[in-house]
Amino acid sequence: MSKPKIYVTRLIAPEGLTELQQVCEMHMWEQKEIMPRDVQFQLFADCKGLLATTDIIVDRELLEACPNLQVVSNHAVGFDNIDVPVCTEFGIPVGNTPGVLSETTADLAFTLILATARRVMEMADRVKKDIWPKKTGMLDNLGTDVHHTTLGIIGMGSIGREVARRAAGFNMTVLYHNRRRDESAEQEFDVMYAEREDILRQSDFISLHLPLSHETEHYIGANEFKLMKRSAIIVNTARGSIVDQAALLEALRNGEIAGAGLDVTDPEPMRGDDPLLDLPQAIVVPHIGSATYQTRIRMSDMAAQNIVRTLCGKPMLSCVNPEAIGKGRSAPLFE
Ligand code: DGY
Repeated sequence: MSKPKIYVTRLIAPEGLTELQQVCEMHMWEQKEIMPRDVQFQLFADCKGLLATTDIIVDRELLEACPNLQVVSNHAVGFDNIDVPVCTEFGIPVGNTPGVLSETTADLAFTLILATARRVMEMADRVKKDIWPKKTGMLDNLGTDVHHTTLGIIGMGSIGREVARRAAGFNMTVLYHNRRRDESAEQEFDVMYAEREDILRQSDFISLHLPLSHETEHYIGANEFKLMKRSAIIVNTARGSIVDQAALLEALRNGEIAGAGLDVTDPEPMRGDDPLLDLPQAIVVPHIGSATYQTRIRMSDMAAQNIVRTLCGKPMLSCVNPEAIGKGRSAPLFE
C-alpha cells in the first residue's frame, strides 16, 4: 500500500516530524510566502491529511476540492481558521495543540503586563535615542506597580491558569471570568470568579485568554473600555479581533484606559503605519505567544502525532470534534 500523502503547510520544527515522515509521504511548503489559495487547491487535492498552520483557511470549498482529505491537524491551540462544523459534517477530525504552549504563552502575557506597566519599550527607546539626561528626576520615567494589584483573567483555560499561577508570585488579587466557574482553579490558584463587568470595573490589568468565535468577536469594545479604570492596562495574547481595535485606539487616545500590550492584532500582520503604533502606551509584538524553540518543537510533535494517530485509528492527543470520528471520511488507513 502506498503511503498516505500529508501536506505540512509551512516550515515547522522538523524535530517533531520524524514519525510522520516515516509513515506518510510528507510534503512541506518551505517558502516564506504563505501558500496562495489556488496553489492549496492543487497541492492538497490528493492529500489524506493536512498539518495546517493558522494561515490556511479550512472551509467547505477547500474540503470539496480535496476529496481524499481525512484528517486536519492544526499547528496551534486556536482553530478559528477551521470551519469545524463543516469538518464534522464530512467526518474529518480536527486536531489542535493545547497544553504544550500554555506556559510559554502565559510567560508572554506576563511579559506584556510588566513591560506595559513599567513602560519598558518606551524607556529602552529613549536610551537608544540618547535621551537619558543627567537631570532625570525622581518623578520622571514612572510606571505603575504590578505586584499587589488586581488582575482580571478572562478565559480560565490552561493558558489563563498559567497566568494565574504567575500572578500569585506577584501577590496579585486575581479575578477570573469563564463560561463555567472553575472550582479547581479557585482552589489551586486562589482566584475568585467574577462577572465580566465586575472584572472590567475592578481590575488594574486585564488579560484575555478566550478562543475567537462569533460570540467572542469584539468581546471588548467601546462600552467595555468605558467600564474599565482609567489606569487599567489590557493585554491580549488570544486573537486580535476579540478586541475592537478601533475602539481600543480611541480608549487609549482619550485616556479611558492607560495601556495595552498586544501579541495579536486585527488584521495580522499589523501595518507599520497603524496609528496604535504611535501611542507610547501601547506595546505590540508580532504574535509570538508560542514562539520559543522548545514550544515550537512540542507543537510540531503534537500536531504530527494527531495525524499519525488518526491514520492508525487511534484517538488524537487533542481533537476538537471527536464526534467526527468514525463517520464520513475518517475511516482509519492503517490498523
Ligand atoms: C495558537 O496556538 O493558537 C497560537 O496563537 C498560534 O501561534
